[in-house]
Parts: sequence; C-alpha cells; structure tokens
Amino acid sequence: MNETLRNFHRTHYCGTLTAAEIGQTVSVCGWVAKQRDLGNLIFIDCRDRTGILQLSFNDATAPEVFDKAKECRSEFVVAATGTLCRREAVNPELPTGEVELMVTELRILGRAETPPFEIIPDSPVKEELRLKYRYLDLRRPDLQQNILMRHKIVKAARDYYDSQGFIEIETPILVKSTPEGARDFLVPSRIHGGSFYALPQSPQLYKQLLMVSGFDRYVQFARCFRDEDLRADRQPEFTQIDVEMSFVDIEDILSVSEGFIAHIFKTILGREIPTPLPRLTYREAMEKYGSDKPDTRFGMLIEDLTDLVKGSGFSVFSSACETGSVRGICAKGGAAAFSRKDCDKLTEYVRGIGAKGLAWAKYTEEGISASFGKFVTPEELSAIAQRLGAEQGDMIFIIADGKNKTVLSVLGALRCEVAKRLGCIPEDTFSFLWITQFPFFEWDEDTQTFVAMHHPFTSPMEDDIPLLDSDKGNVRAKAFDLVLNGIELSSGSIRITDPALQKRMFYALGLSDEEASEKFGFLTDAFRFGAPPHGGMAIGLDRLIMQMLGRETLRDVVAFPKVQNMTELMTGCPSGVDPLQLTELSIAVSKENAKD
Ligand code: AMO
Ligand code: AMP
Repeated sequence: MNETLRNFHRTHYCGTLTAAEIGQTVSVCGWVAKQRDLGNLIFIDCRDRTGILQLSFNDATAPEVFDKAKECRSEFVVAATGTLCRREAVNPELPTGEVELMVTELRILGRAETPPFEIIPDSPVKEELRLKYRYLDLRRPDLQQNILMRHKIVKAARDYYDSQGFIEIETPILVKSTPEGARDFLVPSRIHGGSFYALPQSPQLYKQLLMVSGFDRYVQFARCFRDEDLRADRQPEFTQIDVEMSFVDIEDILSVSEGFIAHIFKTILGREIPTPLPRLTYREAMEKYGSDKPDTRFGMLIEDLTDLVKGSGFSVFSSACETGSVRGICAKGGAAAFSRKDCDKLTEYVRGIGAKGLAWAKYTEEGISASFGKFVTPEELSAIAQRLGAEQGDMIFIIADGKNKTVLSVLGALRCEVAKRLGCIPEDTFSFLWITQFPFFEWDEDTQTFVAMHHPFTSPMEDDIPLLDSDKGNVRAKAFDLVLNGIELSSGSIRITDPALQKRMFYALGLSDEEASEKFGFLTDAFRFGAPPHGGMAIGLDRLIMQMLGRETLRDVVAFPKVQNMTELMTGCPSGVDPLQLTELSIAVSKENAKD
C-alpha cells in the first residue's frame, strides 16, 4: 500500500538545493527519475518541476529505509527527509551536482508501472506516443520549462498592459459568429433547438462594444477557436493577447505594442529589442520579399528584371512580361552550394507551388553559366547579373510568369527555401517588422468576389475612400501586421465608427442591408449611440512564446495540443455522444458521417 504525507512537510524543491544548505535537514518530494542499485549503495535521482536532487542510501541508512529505496522504480512518487551533504563526486552537469541528500526517511507515495517511454529531455520517441501520454511527456524537463516560461510571459504581459492603464475584461465563449474568416465551431442550443452558438474566432465585436461602453483600454488573454487546417503555427484553439484602445490612431497602437515587445523580451530573455521597429508597406513587402510576412533575418531581396528582358529573344521571358513579370533573387555564395541536381529539385519545388519553371545562373571564375544561357545574349545575361548584384561565387534564380502574383509568391517562398539550404538564416535572432497599408479587399478566386482581407470593421485609408466604387483593388486599409522571423505574430487595425461609411463598406463587400443587419446589427446599432474612434490588435500568444523559446511548433508550448487531424490523442476527442444528448439538442447525425 502507498504511504501518506501524514506529518511530512516539504521544506525545499529538489532543484533549488545548493552547497548553501549543506548540513540542513531537508524534506523533498518528487518522482524517481532514475534508481541505481550498487548493492550496498543506492542512488535515486528525485525529480520535481525545479530539477533533480540525488538521494543517497548507504551502510549507515536504516535497513527499512534502504529496503524501500531498493524497491523504488522509475516514476514512483516519493517523499524523502535527510541531511544535505556535499557529494564526493561532484556532477557539473546538474545545478544540484555539488550536493546529495543522505536519506533518513523515505516514503513511497505512489507506485508506477513502467512508463511507455523514458522521461528524458529531447526524447527520441514518436510524437504520437508522447501525445497519447501527454501527462507523462509533460514531466519532461524541457517541456515543463516551456510551460513555466509560458506562465512567466503571460505574467509579464499582464503587468505591462496593467502598467499602461489597460483593463482586463472577459468576453463570452458562447457567441454569435465572429467574422475572422475561418470556419466556426458551433455549439447547439438545447433550449432553442436548431439554433447554435459559435465559439469566438476572436473577441472582435465584443471588444469594440467595450469601447462604445467607455472602457477606453481593454486587454484580454482570449481563447479563440477556428476550424481551419492545422500547421505547425496553427492550433484550432489558441490564445490571443487581445487589445483595443479608444481615441487613438495607428501610431498609438504601434507604440503601445512596441513597448510590450521591448518589455517582454527584456524581462523574459534579457534581450534589447530596439524600437521603433522597422516598417514596410504591404506593397513594398510583396515587391521585395514576395510575402506579407517576410523573414527579414536575411537579405536576398527580389529584383525586377522585366525592363531588362521584355525585348529578349527568349520567349519564356518576353511573353511573361506582356501580362506579368520576370524577377529574380541572388543567393550570395550559392554557386558552389547548388549542383545541377539541386537545381532540378528546386525546379520541382517551384512547380509544386505554382511556377511553370525555374531559370538559374551560376557566376563562377569561368563566367556566368545559365540554364537559359543559349536563349539570351551575353549582354542580357550580364545586365541581369548586375541588377541582382551578383558577383563571382553567387547563384541567381529567376521566375517568369504571366501572373505577377505568381512570380512574387513563388520567389518569396523560394527565397526562404534557398536560405534554408544555404544555412544563411542566423539563429537566435529576432527580426521584427510591421507591415502597413494592407489592401482592404482581397479577390477570392473561389467565389469570384472581393472579400475583406482583415475584417469588415477595418477602416479604409481616408485618401482611398473615393476608390471604393471605382477601383476596389487599390483601396488600402488602416490595417497592420507584426511579423517576427517570417511568422505573422499579430494583426490589427483602426475600425470604422461612422455608420454611413460602415454601410458603404458592407455594400462594397456585397452584403445587403438585411444581411449586414442580421449579422452585425447589434454593432452598427451601438455605433448610433456615440462610438469613440478606436482600434486595436491581437498578438498570437502561442506563436510569440514559440518564437521566444526557439521552438518550431505550437505543440511545444501548449499543454494539451491537438494534432494535424484535429484530434486530441490523449482523450480521443472529438468523440461520439449519447444518443439521448443528441435528441435533447434536436440533432440527428446522418449514419455515414457518424463516428463510433
Ligand atoms: P487575426 O485573425 O489576424 O486577427 O489573429 C491575430 C493573431 O492570432 C494568431 N493566430 C493563431 N495562432 C495560433 N493558431 C491559429 N489558428 C491562429 N490564428 C490566428 C496570429 C494572428 O496574427 N480580431 C483580429 C485582431 C484585431 O483586429 O484586433 C484577429 O483576430 O498570431
Ligand atoms: P524550356 O524552354 O522549358 O527548355 O526552358 C528553358 C529554360 O527556361 C530553362 O532553364 C527553364 O528552367 C527556364 N524556364 C522555363 N519556364 C520558366 C519560367 N516560367 N520562369 C523561369 N524560368 C523558366
């Protein structure tokens, strides 16, 4: 039978003990990370969330205590009391490596079966198994560290926004659908059979209503839910540091947010992030980086070659120039790094993301050799090299396409791929960038309509309002994103508060008065009763933590994540429910879709 904690009082956490406590009577609790039985000597590594302490048992240990130590296996839960001593063999790898606990009392509080995998840092075990036993995986010191850091980051974030006069307010989880553009998770109403709540994709509308109520500066660590395809940087439920401010323009929001970034990086990582952070307009970002979330840790900017090749005898180039463009990048020092086979692989890669082909050129001591060399004149080739700033040792990649959008997006992705293969992305660097002046509208190929790129409450730039009827594609929004190392960290905007302008925007988005009123009437109604100018943004907290901790996936910074197919491997949700529950909810599940 397991023992109890009766009359046992923990005095210290394992990982906190140092030479300063030598000679003291110490009581610790934890899990057996390792037990080594050397016959007349037993060592147990006792682990809690602060670290590991060595418990020692020898000839001087009382026999019943020694026997219990002998019985201990990995992951048993134990409590031990003893005298802290200096270790004979100091372990420089362990923060507590100078000391050990000579145990006088040992209690086995919980026994453990052999765990399905060893609980060690960077365990090589398959992730599915670790996620199935997430509670065991969460005992791993590295994962535990991430979760503890998450706590610290949230605490520092709360302190920062509090110091800036923000009020934390909770908004509902059962809501009317919010317009962030992903699919909603729906919750059926029992009382109102056939009606549904949505889980919030963000607290967007509520936070705007709080501005109408006069709260002036709102913040929430808001859980958001979106039914969309998962990626390393996307979970179906995630947390935003959601912010809204009244009587502000873009500059005020950017400056509070920069203050937050500087504060959090300084307090948590001890890193200085120089502010103001750099900015690019959406158009500049697309032209130079082929992306609205460029990775600015490295250069390799896109150059336009259209004017150089539009009269070329090489029809791949000249015909692309008619409706699209020809653009390229220069990979410094890439000539030696990319073999013909590598270029073939890159060609396959760009074809996979929409390009028709890839032209490349190598600048070596013998001059420039190009995959398209025989189709262009030496003058054209050297003009291209010059435009791209290519020198001996460099490699050039060029994309030609009748669609400018394709040229840019492919080069944007290729730039990152080439940098990865060249190993020229500096590690441990935090490269921030604001993207401003986003287009208001985005053309949706599926529905062949304009949709709002941010959301329909985003204000257009005043100068562009006249274009609303004539040239929607060129209307810019008062919207901005914060990008860190090529990942979108946050999005925000100044909102529309003028009911007449809001109406025009709904029209421009193809929403009739009835639809607008049915969907967002409560918001537009509210604006009729005195709405302050306001705006805000939301920082993806999980993404921020992932990047601060140098991790590659959100699964490393979320305690209980979901996997690619949206399931949680530990509990097995989503799962079927009792038919009675469905009846109560007025729901019938069609047989072919039903999950056992
Ligand atoms: P947006 O939809 O851009 O803006 O979301 C803001 C930030 O939330 C993070 N994020 C995610 N993180 C993890 N998993 C996801 N599935 C996921 N989706 C988004 C990103 C993103 O930049 N209401 C507006 C903000 C505003 O205008 O104030 C909004 O939600 O880091
Ligand atoms: P091809 O005419 O297909 O033999 O291609 C001749 C050269 O042009 C090769 O180097 C191709 O890689 C390159 N090329 C073909 N299509 C494109 C394109 N859309 N963009 C850039 N280069 C291309």
